[in-house]
Amino acid sequence: MTKYVVVGAGIIGLYTAFNLLDKGVKAKDITIVAQYLPGDESINYTSPYAGGNFSCITGNDPETLHFDKLTYLSLGRIQRALGGPSCGLDRCTSYEHWEHKPPPVKIESLKSYLDQYEETPVEKLPANCAYGIKFLSWSFNCPKFLSNFHDYLAFTRGVKIVRKTLTHISQGFVSAETKVVLNCTGLGSHKLGGVNDTKCYPTRGQVVVIKAPHIKENVMFWGSDFATYIIKRPYSNDQLILGGFMEKDNWTADTFGEQTKDILRRTTTLFPKILNENSGGANLKDVEILRVVSGLRPSRHGGVRIERELIDEGKIVVHNYGASGYGYQAGFGMGEKAARLAIAKETKI
Ligand SMILES: Cc1cc2nc3c(=O)[nH]c(=O)nc-3n(C[C@H](O)[C@H](O)[C@H](O)COP(=O)(O)OP(=O)(O)OC[C@H]3O[C@@H](n4cnc5c(N)ncnc54)[C@H](O)[C@@H]3O)c2cc1C
Ligand SMILES: *[C@@H]1O[C@H](CO)[C@@H](O)[C@H](O)[C@H]1NC(C)=O
Ligand SMILES: *[C@@H]1O[C@H](CO)[C@@H](O)[C@H](O)[C@H]1NC(C)=O
Ligand SMILES: *[C@@H]1O[C@H](CO)[C@@H](O)[C@H](O)[C@H]1NC(C)=O
Ligand SMILES: *[C@@H]1O[C@H](CO)[C@@H](O)[C@H](O)[C@H]1NC(C)=O
Ligand SMILES: *[C@@H]1O[C@H](CO)[C@@H](O)[C@H](O)[C@H]1NC(C)=O
Repeated sequence: MTKYVVVGAGIIGLYTAFNLLDKGVKAKDITIVAQYLPGDESINYTSPYAGGNFSCITGNDPETLHFDKLTYLSLGRIQRALGGPSCGLDRCTSYEHWEHKPPPVKIESLKSYLDQYEETPVEKLPANCAYGIKFLSWSFNCPKFLSNFHDYLAFTRGVKIVRKTLTHISQGFVSAETKVVLNCTGLGSHKLGGVNDTKCYPTRGQVVVIKAPHIKENVMFWGSDFATYIIKRPYSNDQLILGGFMEKDNWTADTFGEQTKDILRRTTTLFPKILNENSGGANLKDVEILRVVSGLRPSRHGGVRIERELIDEGKIVVHNYGASGYGYQAGFGMGEKAARLAIAKETKI
């Protein structure tokens, strides 16, 4: 009886299924199929590797601003549905800095919905920053959040979630009743048979995870050719994520010692408290590194693809992939649009 098949169980697939339910689709009419599921780790499954902050690094076009806003304003409801902050989604103060001041359209949008929004006085900005803000952000403990999101959809709501690898788009139509396939395959969209999207490419990131109970906030610095960020991971035994890198079209899952050093140097310069109040000592060698990981952000030339496509016999595919570095923070808005397209078309059949 599966009318809607969501392919992909990354954050985009889960948000999309959540939005279908929001719009009144019954859980028994939804199946999620994916090669990798929450709890798994693979270089071909980006979502567990995200730092997981809501930040202001995304684009300035109206649709992206809308996706961010809708997601920010919906996270409280998702957090409650999943059982409160310990589901792996909590709030924390974030300080963001820019090398170049963002355009007014972006600043006006952020101001209109971010809680506790404050501009940082110029004299308090770190070196080489043109603009800075402080606000109450959201932080995800990504692996934990994915698992709890999975359990909510599967056990609380009754959505079927199945492990299966597809080699062609048509395999998403799992039964005769399937009318709509929602393609949330992230970077998988590059290699899959069907409509092989060569516009998809990875933006590789490397992060260093350290133990830092003394850090309670997020701090970021966005430049034209660098991204330095510090993200507290909620409910994780005091893990702190330090990043990062944005390497376009680099598929390697390896991690590199030079990058680890560079990340430690940049983050401790931006936010000296990491070292100054470190219980193990104030030198770089005293930092307790828990692990170093790399992940591939599913980017796409031309931006995210959220559109519907009519396949033969009145069957529909709704694409929702290419979330790049902002699947957590904009993905609810993306899922809302995908669910709307899925349902609109369905009613016309
Ligand atoms: C280092 C790093 C830091 C990041 N930090 C942040 C952050 O702070 N905030 C933020 O918002 N975002 C962040 N991101 C980006 C975020 O991780 C991505 O935007 C998001 O995870 C993309 O999710 P997705 O669901 O599109 O893809 P994925 O998580 O890759 O999921 C794809 C799904 O599709 C399935 N699939 C693919 N191909 C097939 C197939 N052929 N058959 C069956 N199933 C298939 C996979 O198995 C998987 O279930 C970061 C990313 C990285 C790498
Ligand atoms: C990841 O996907 C790529 C492209 O499909 C494939 O070549 C590679 O073997 C996969 N890696 C793993 C570890 O599964
Ligand atoms: C913080 O968020 C931005 C945008 O959401 C993302 O590009 C960046 O990689 C994130 N930082 C970490 C550590 O994941
Ligand atoms: C699409 O990808 C599949 C699987 O990688 C491959 O077999 C097929 O040749 C590709 N098709 C095109 C048109 O590139
Ligand atoms: C998803 O879309 C991509 C790009 O259009 C295509 O290559 C892929 O086959 C689709 N996958 C599924 C499972 O629908
Ligand atoms: C990927 O990035 C790593 C680290 O910067 C680099 O050593 C490697 O040469 C890159 N690979 C490609 C194919 O660009």
